[in-house]
Amino acid sequence: MARKFFVGGNWKCNGTSEEVKKIVSVLNGGQVPSPDVVEVVVSPPFVFLPEVKNSLRPEFHVAAQNCWVKKGGAYTGEVSAEMLHNLGIPWVILGHSERRAILGETNEFVGEKVVYALSQGLKVIACVGETLEQRESGSTMEVVAAQTKAIAEKIKDWSNVVIAYEPVWAIGTGKVASPAQAQEVHNELRKWLAANVSPEVAASTRIIYGGSVNGANCKELAGQPDIDGFLVGGASLKPEFIDIIKSAE
Ligand code: G3P
Repeated sequence: MARKFFVGGNWKCNGTSEEVKKIVSVLNGGQVPSPDVVEVVVSPPFVFLPEVKNSLRPEFHVAAQNCWVKKGGAYTGEVSAEMLHNLGIPWVILGHSERRAILGETNEFVGEKVVYALSQGLKVIACVGETLEQRESGSTMEVVAAQTKAIAEKIKDWSNVVIAYEPVWAIGTGKVASPAQAQEVHNELRKWLAANVSPEVAASTRIIYGGSVNGANCKELAGQPDIDGFLVGGASLKPEFIDIIKSAE
């Protein structure tokens, strides 16, 4: 089954009003493949979401970088899935390793966030990935499978879910996973989906790679059979993000 290439740009906690305008201008002017070939979703901080949504070229879409785990209410500082849906924000990134590590988001909590966001009409980029210690101890697949299981056991419809495999040791470090390393985990994840969810879900679900992707390494990574795209951090703030989008060709 053909899986449309997916390129996400996670801006993280970055940007000023002027910088955001410049990034959007670069994105709007870039020569990129058609939306039939690649799906592009950029994720600015909450405060810039409406502006970016309204000024971005129509074939690109936006994602929030997080949302609350249940219906909004007395949860100071949180942003609910229904608020995002009400603003016409179609996507949300959930379970990013920085939130797991810094804010203590557990597999269970991430699973609950995913199922609630889907129930409110959002599409989800669900992040999984192991730490360097876990990789060096040989428990990469055990960790990634547990993270994925916590999501899989709560949802039935995978049509609005993209899985982002982001090895923590490659995030923001410049130490990108080799194509073979990334392909190995993507393939194991796809086999896990086939065995624990269904062959159809395994075949249709995009599994994208994140962790020091840039304009120089994206083409080789994109050539791997089980890498269906990227979730890009630092490089998504730079003009080379256009080159990363072009790696879909
Ligand atoms: O969510 C994507 C991010 O974690 C990857 O960051 O800067 O290594 O591309 P970076």
